[in-house]
Amino acid sequence: MAEVVIVESAETAGEVAADEIEKLVRANPRAVLGLATGSTPLTTWRALAARGLDLSQVRGFALDEYVGLPAGHPESYRSVITREVVEPLGLTPSLVRVPADDGPIETAGADYEAAITAAGGVDLQILGIGRTGHIGFNEPGSSFASLTRVKTLTEQTRLDNARFFDSLDDVPKHCITQGLGTIMRARHLVLLAFGSGKASALARAVEGPVTASLPGSAIQLHQRVTVIVDEEAAADLEFADYYRYAWANRLDWEKL
Ligand code: F6R
Repeated sequence: MAEVVIVESAETAGEVAADEIEKLVRANPRAVLGLATGSTPLTTWRALAARGLDLSQVRGFALDEYVGLPAGHPESYRSVITREVVEPLGLTPSLVRVPADDGPIETAGADYEAAITAAGGVDLQILGIGRTGHIGFNEPGSSFASLTRVKTLTEQTRLDNARFFDSLDDVPKHCITQGLGTIMRARHLVLLAFGSGKASALARAVEGPVTASLPGSAIQLHQRVTVIVDEEAAADLEFADYYRYAWANRLDWEKL
């Protein structure tokens, strides 16, 4: 079962996630991080940046990228990762990859999988969750075995992401995303969710039936998952009291 940590704010959640990353990087300065974009991880990047760690040797792999945006578009995930992660955290740009950021789109999925494998796999994958239940951009129906590939975004996801663009028409219809199979190979999944808009998808991911119709439910099949949520996102969790109890009573060695 996932460890579910319910905290009072996105800021506190960012500190808890940053604790996990800090532990990893102190043990291995060349650790491989899986990087999510969107609003959810921002408090984690902020908390981590404030710690002043040397992250210059850390390697990074973004979860996904839009397909069809002009190179250098400010909302391409390459631009977002540079602006929100690489620069504030002091990562080395050449050590951070985004799907399809070099080479043709037709072979980009296989190339990305090979690059992750060559790096030794992802140690810790930061995840958000979409209201459709997607992780990465694996929309409902995605195979649990899927690897990095081009997908079509749902209209719900385009609407949700339209806030980053001038208009809905500007939101791409396609993306390239790590598959659920790719994500499941990471050694530790850290899934964050904030706000009431995520409550239903989050509860279905953590407690609902494991089904490709709710791609985030794949995390139930992973052996090491930390879910960090605020009270609003936790609102639909049936076992919330137990999660709070387990967190409050965790053993000393679990706190390290
Ligand atoms: C982003 C990603 C998506 C987002 C999800 C939530 O790289 O893969 O799964 O994590 O759409 O987005 P926000 O955080 O903007 O609510």
